[in-house]
Amino acid sequence: MNKSDDKENLPCYPQEVQELLNDTKLFGRMNDPTSSAYLKGPCGDEMEFYLVIKENRITEIKYYTQGCDYTKSCAAMTASLAEGKTVQNALLISAGDVIDRLKGLPDDHLHCSILAVSTLYRAIADYFLQA
Ligand code: FES
Repeated sequence: MNKSDDKENLPCYPQEVQELLNDTKLFGRMNDPTSSAYLKGPCGDEMEFYLVIKENRITEIKYYTQGCDYTKSCAAMTASLAEGKTVQNALLISAGDVIDRLKGLPDDHLHCSILAVSTLYRAIADYFLQA
């Protein structure tokens, strides 16, 4: 998909979602995370999640993707929902939660939410496998 075409068709997200998209605290890579994961979705988009976990709680989280804004918004929402949660509670975050919170994710981009939560789950699995 042409990413610039995609951008032109972006829905008018609510203010808080736009703020999430612009939140540089959540976006980027991390040098020394407790755990991390990389996944490539069936569409070819790639995503990374980095977690700092202290006493079983996600105290810092970052995502990185060069995917379209829909992909980015799903990752940002997933990161924002997971930040501060115990790893067990973070595993309860679903693609449905992300879709509900984003209000306006089009049907042909619902899979972006699955890539986002799947990458989070993989980063948590990476943490569990270290224990
Ligand atoms: Fe593929 Fe969003 S367009 S994950």
